[in-house]
Amino acid sequence: MTVESSNDLFDILDRRYSVRGFTDQEIEPELLKAIFQSAQRSPSNCNTQPWQLSVISGQRCRDFGKTLSEAVASGAPSEPDYEITLGFFEEFRQRQVDCAFALYNSMGIERGDKMGRGMAMLRNFDFFGAPHVAFVAMPKTFGIVNTLDVGMYLQTLVLALEAHGIGCCVQGALAYYPDIVRKELDQEGEEMQILCGISFGYEDKEHPANNTRTVRAALEENVKFYS
Ligand SMILES: Cc1cc2nc3c(=O)[nH]c(=O)nc-3n(C[C@H](O)[C@H](O)[C@H](O)COP(=O)(O)O)c2cc1C
Repeated sequence: MTVESSNDLFDILDRRYSVRGFTDQEIEPELLKAIFQSAQRSPSNCNTQPWQLSVISGQRCRDFGKTLSEAVASGAPSEPDYEITLGFFEEFRQRQVDCAFALYNSMGIERGDKMGRGMAMLRNFDFFGAPHVAFVAMPKTFGIVNTLDVGMYLQTLVLALEAHGIGCCVQGALAYYPDIVRKELDQEGEEMQILCGISFGYEDKEHPANNTRTVRAALEENVKFYS
């Protein structure tokens, strides 16, 4: 058995990486539903299950990707539903820089190439060519405690996708233009805040962005064991 075909949780954790280039092949509707059904098993605080997903597929996904990326390229104002202050410092800033350069290197974008970096950023908004995108929201009045639940959900979804050989990229960038998204979804009156998006589909193995690999800090940097 190859590692790729194993559905052992630890193999899935080892092999998964963010995918930023997709084939046109759409996920069969039954499988799509089954994956989201599995993700419903995610735990949440008091079992409140605050995640609200809007999944756009096929031609509509491609058309909306075109609309959104054109709006971004032409300077639409970014007005997220929640305050996005990344505020990275020290090792966190270093990791952010390393992860950006890992992506640029795999795409052949030179360090000083501002235009190239801008174009790479813009790819977020046409969902990296994915045939599916999901926007992830929760009620507007909810805060940090509830985003823990949504984070738990997202990781479950990501692993369930990977278990079915489907690649994805969680995208904070897809929270930057919530009004354009709400208009597309006909959700303008709804009291939801859009937290992020996730593009997904079958990986285009030839796409250079998919050669990007990131590393993790040594365990001691994140976890202390006491006894
Ligand atoms: C909450 C969250 C937001 C993210 N936002 C973006 C994004 O906007 N664009 C992008 O290309 N990748 C985004 N990513 C993917 C991360 O860059 C990626 O997970 C990280 O670099 C580790 O790499 P790996 O997923 O390949 O292991 C995001 C990931 C998470 C969990």
